[in-house]
Amino acid sequence: MTQKGSGKSGATGGSGSGRGTGKSIGPTGGQRQLRVRVKTASKRTTSSNRWLERQLNDPYVAASKRDGMRSRAAYKLREIDDKYRFLKPGLRVVDLGAAPGGWSQIAAERVRSLDGKGAAKGQVVAIDYLGVEPLPGVEIVMMDFTANEAETHLKSLMRKGGADIVLSDMAAPTVGHSRTDHIRIMALAEQAAAFACDVLAPGGVFLCKVFQGGAERELLDVLKKNFATVRHVKPPASRSDSAELYVLATDFRGGKAGDVVAAGDE
Ligand SMILES: C[S@@+](CC[C@H](N)C(=O)[O-])C[C@H]1O[C@@H](n2cnc3c(N)ncnc32)[C@H](O)[C@@H]1O
Repeated sequence: MTQKGSGKSGATGGSGSGRGTGKSIGPTGGQRQLRVRVKTASKRTTSSNRWLERQLNDPYVAASKRDGMRSRAAYKLREIDDKYRFLKPGLRVVDLGAAPGGWSQIAAERVRSLDGKGAAKGQVVAIDYLGVEPLPGVEIVMMDFTANEAETHLKSLMRKGGADIVLSDMAAPTVGHSRTDHIRIMALAEQAAAFACDVLAPGGVFLCKVFQGGAERELLDVLKKNFATVRHVKPPASRSDSAELYVLATDFRGGKAGDVVAAGDE
């Protein structure tokens, strides 16, 4: 069930995944790309044509290929961390909804779970119900996070003292009905937040994908009670026409498992 990536193969990102300089120059390093137009082929639908054209013209897709990143999503975490700088050598990270592995690559590199020494050697534990190809420095669990045994299994892999950072980019496949899609993603976010409050050490960080459009109130209330700072972030790599948004909660107030403050308590 658990695979551990330990080899040296598989890029964890070249120059493209390093810390930013503070200036946001985008994945192309500021160069303009020529736009590719896709001719309509009889076998392709208009929407798949549009998808193909968007992929071909997306600088983050090009950058992920160039940098050996598993996903364009990797750049979202990279940009968020370039700004807020919470991934540091030696920290312990849990990555929920990790496939195909882009966020885990960035996390492994920044907490130095492969090449760190002593206290500067971090840990990355990743879970997805889809398979993730082995990644150096990442312990991979192939399991549904909402399954009863998932949290116990994750905890059994985590080092003593829990985690410093819980990341969740989990998203259930969309059904095209926006209200249903929204409810499903928020249910995952709420479960991820409860897990974070259970395993995080004091001072810990929780970063989670949500969607704009209501039903977030309860999640935000719980986070505000348990973390000193809660903010919404929309990195440049997150498409502006998407309702996707991230919640970044920092400085976990702590508390033992079981006495996490729920919205409305106190
Ligand atoms: C947007 S993708 C994550 C991309 C990833 N952050 C990366 O950079 O490669 C969302 C992932 O959430 C996973 N997911 C959704 N629901 C899940 C669940 N209940 N348990 C585990 N993984 C789940 C999906 O299988 C999918 O791989």
